[in-house]
Amino acid sequence: MLAVPGGPDPTRRVRLGRTARVAALAATLAGCGLSSSQTTLDPRSDFARQSHSIFMQILWWDTAIFLIVAALLVLAILRFRERDPQALPVQVRGNAKLELTWTIAPAVILTFIAFPTVGAIFRTQAPPTPDALKVRVVGHQWWWEFHYPDLGITTATELYLPAGQRVALELSSTDVIHSFWVPALGGKRDTPPGQLNRILLTPAAPGEFPGQCAEFCGASHANMRHWAVVRPAADFQAWVARQKAPPAEPAEGSPAAQGRQIFTTSPCVGCHTIQGISGGQLGPDLTHVASRKTIAGGMLENDGGNLARWLKNPPGVKPGSLMPDLKLTDGQVSALVAYLGSLK
Ligand code: CUA
Repeated sequence: MLAVPGGPDPTRRVRLGRTARVAALAATLAGCGLSSSQTTLDPRSDFARQSHSIFMQILWWDTAIFLIVAALLVLAILRFRERDPQALPVQVRGNAKLELTWTIAPAVILTFIAFPTVGAIFRTQAPPTPDALKVRVVGHQWWWEFHYPDLGITTATELYLPAGQRVALELSSTDVIHSFWVPALGGKRDTPPGQLNRILLTPAAPGEFPGQCAEFCGASHANMRHWAVVRPAADFQAWVARQKAPPAEPAEGSPAAQGRQIFTTSPCVGCHTIQGISGGQLGPDLTHVASRKTIAGGMLENDGGNLARWLKNPPGVKPGSLMPDLKLTDGQVSALVAYLGSLK
């Protein structure tokens, strides 16, 4: 860059530009944190409240330690600064009292942190209590399955829960390690294959809380999203009734009926369950797929356009998707969109 005589110093301008960009990035990140409900700082269950309380305790310990260390540092800088360049400072070697202090003090602080932490770990992964609603949470590459064994419901991506009722989640995986995490409600807890992990929590009040797989699990790890949808008890029961109902019956000769015909005669049936129609286990249960807000593991809004895009070329939309490109024609896609869209 050429310097213009008398003009502003270009090095300074570059520096200012860089500072402005860093400040903008920091503001954006701060904005993300504040505007997103995917935060642990606004706890909405007993589990999340315990985690938050431990976080605050650690924060206060850290603040105290920082202030003490900073004060000692300032004191040392001022008190032991060089006054006479010729004079040799007092030579010291070892100080048993000091060394004992800085060994024992952190051990005591860590003990204070350990008690609530270990207690919360055991409380939040206790076996289901008799009053708890049981949900089996199964991680798949790259979507979450939610099975309610006592209600006979299987769904995906949206975990419906009744507010104020204890919930016992049983976490597992069919392939690799995922990690179930809804920041507002608690977690994160891993799903190592072949192992069952647990979460016991009570959602405090109705709301919709986003979550995200929190363990790198392959190409579409970032596209493995989920929601906890907490509803008042009566609304939750209404949702249960809708989910337990048989799938919608398309009218004779309608595009949806044509879509059902394509579904039942294509490889779709090998991977997906639609109650009374098919029993595939590899992909999400589609019995009431139209009742969900999203498709493709929470990646896309559930509307006709996105569904068509998804059916046309799944791996093109979601990297690594196990659902292959079935080379469906546009006509087949729109019939399938009509059928799946009818499964409220
Ligand atoms: Cu599943 Cu990351």
